[in-house]
Amino acid sequence: MNVKKCMFPAAGYGTRFLPATKSMPKEMLPIVNRPLIEFGVEEACEAGMTDICVVTGRGKRALEDHFDTNFELEHQIAGSSKEAALDQIRELTEACTFSYTRQRAMRGLGDAVLTGRTLVGNEPFGLVLADDLCLNLAGDGVLKQMKALAETHDCSVIAVMDVPDDQVSKYGIVVGEAMEKNLLKVSSMVEKPAIEEAPSNLAVIGRYVLGPEIFAHIENTEPGAGGEIQLTDALNALAKSGKLLAYRFEGLRFDCGSIDGFVEATNYYYDNVVNKG
Ligand code: G1P
Repeated sequence: MNVKKCMFPAAGYGTRFLPATKSMPKEMLPIVNRPLIEFGVEEACEAGMTDICVVTGRGKRALEDHFDTNFELEHQIAGSSKEAALDQIRELTEACTFSYTRQRAMRGLGDAVLTGRTLVGNEPFGLVLADDLCLNLAGDGVLKQMKALAETHDCSVIAVMDVPDDQVSKYGIVVGEAMEKNLLKVSSMVEKPAIEEAPSNLAVIGRYVLGPEIFAHIENTEPGAGGEIQLTDALNALAKSGKLLAYRFEGLRFDCGSIDGFVEATNYYYDNVVNKG
């Protein structure tokens, strides 16, 4: 497996952040001064996944503009001290290529990923849910850790973490058999189970490295939890072939799709990055 591409489903509405997300994509909400999606793209780029494939929807044009040159602005601040503020985003736009496709109707994460097939083709790919911000200031980013495992084991890999009982019904929940430290072979998965029905407390978070066979599994997936085509159900089918690993990653993950997680991420990033200079 040589993973060069990374898919970003970014068609969702972000209703938990209304009215801020009424006319602005939720992926553009800033953690201090950097939009959420920029962190995800930076993580992908660090992992060598420089071909960025974004599944967008109506009202998401700011995403495309963010990863493009803003000639007027850049011309205005050229040569001034303000120019340095654009260094990180310039580096990313130069290191990566960006392609976009639109999901016309919201039919679930599985359907969004299938929409992105046209950009990814018949290749393995990373998948980032930008709402989940992953930071590992002490070492390799989460996608880079996962890519190394996917290549070594020639398997798809999903990132997992233990969550408390009252959080289980918010996630895809994984059951598996331990292989080595922090790595399990997944035997089954279920999307957002009630705690009484949950087979474990091990939750998948928004980082995946997947082989292209996932697309055929999604095509064969019927609508599941919430009437949507669930990626978790397609992953469950993939797990049955013994080719899916779950990895307890190193680093921190913030649920920036929730107000509490977003504030926590902001404070952490301010204290540990911005304010440290
Ligand atoms: C999605 C997935 C779920 C996963 C979660 C991680 O759910 O469907 O399996 O655990 O992301 O953040 P969502 O949060 O989009 O409802």
